[in-house]
Amino acid sequence: MMFYLTLAALAVASTAQNDLRSKDFALQLSSTTNETLNGSLLYACHEGAATESLCPGGKPSDEEPLQLYAMFHFNTSTSSANPNDTKWDNIGGILGYDLPYNHDQIQPSAMFLYIQPTSNVALPIITPAESSSTSVFFEECGSMYIKQYYDDTTIPPYANTSEAHIKNWYICDTYYGYHYRTLAWVVGLDSHSTPQNPTCEKVDVKRVYA
Ligand SMILES: *[C@@H]1O[C@H](CO)[C@@H](O)[C@H](O)[C@H]1NC(C)=O
Ligand SMILES: *[C@@H]1O[C@H](CO)[C@@H](O)[C@H](O)[C@H]1NC(C)=O
Ligand SMILES: *[C@@H]1O[C@H](CO)[C@@H](O)[C@H](O)[C@H]1NC(C)=O
Ligand SMILES: *[C@@H]1O[C@H](CO)[C@@H](O)[C@H](O)[C@H]1NC(C)=O
Ligand SMILES: *[C@@H]1O[C@H](CO)[C@@H](O)[C@H](O)[C@H]1NC(C)=O
Repeated sequence: MMFYLTLAALAVASTAQNDLRSKDFALQLSSTTNETLNGSLLYACHEGAATESLCPGGKPSDEEPLQLYAMFHFNTSTSSANPNDTKWDNIGGILGYDLPYNHDQIQPSAMFLYIQPTSNVALPIITPAESSSTSVFFEECGSMYIKQYYDDTTIPPYANTSEAHIKNWYICDTYYGYHYRTLAWVVGLDSHSTPQNPTCEKVDVKRVYA
């Protein structure tokens, strides 16, 4: 009986809707080596029908304020904290994007990491399917990270409750539907991750509210 109750509770948790929506924000890059990338904002670039990746674009200025750039949002589930409250820096959620279509319609979409078995460079892809989205987190300063829950660098491997903040964001030449320079994610812990794609440049990604 206990066993069934536990399974039922898990099933509910895994189908929880990420429908608590944050304020809109832009995603801004920082780079310690490339002045062009440093401060650039990400926009959604077309990879196929209702499918986008994230490409570096311009920088906000007086003529072109932040609000004119691509806006994203952070959705958490109702069982967790308010996504507008930046103090909840350990609450996971989905990176959402309203894909515009037919001039005045929007298709709510979310980011997942597309992983190819033959590369350690994964691609953040935005699609309408929320079920496949990847959990992301934001530090209080706005820095976007993915949490480590599992450590397989030790013997034996185990669930690592220290929950390290991993920020393996890069800008690389990638191919999904088109050749672009896009945001990418190198699979693995920082210390074990060197991108096999030679065009990758390390960046950090921050949310900046409009
Ligand atoms: C995010 O939350 C809003 C508000 O509940 C909802 O309309 C939207 O479908 C959710 N999902 C995404 C992917 O934006
Ligand atoms: C977050 O703030 C925005 C803008 O003020 C608001 O529309 C939205 O409902 C808020 N989200 C939640 C979950 O309170
Ligand atoms: C800096 O980034 C820009 C934009 O992605 C790219 O075109 C350029 O080649 C990069 N410069 C260097 C030195 O890597
Ligand atoms: C990147 O931008 C930040 C903030 O504007 C600045 O402090 C830093 O010096 C810049 N670094 C490079 C390499 O351009
Ligand atoms: C668990 O995570 C912490 C924080 O990143 C790390 O220092 C540690 O080496 C990890 N693994 C073990 C076995 O504790």
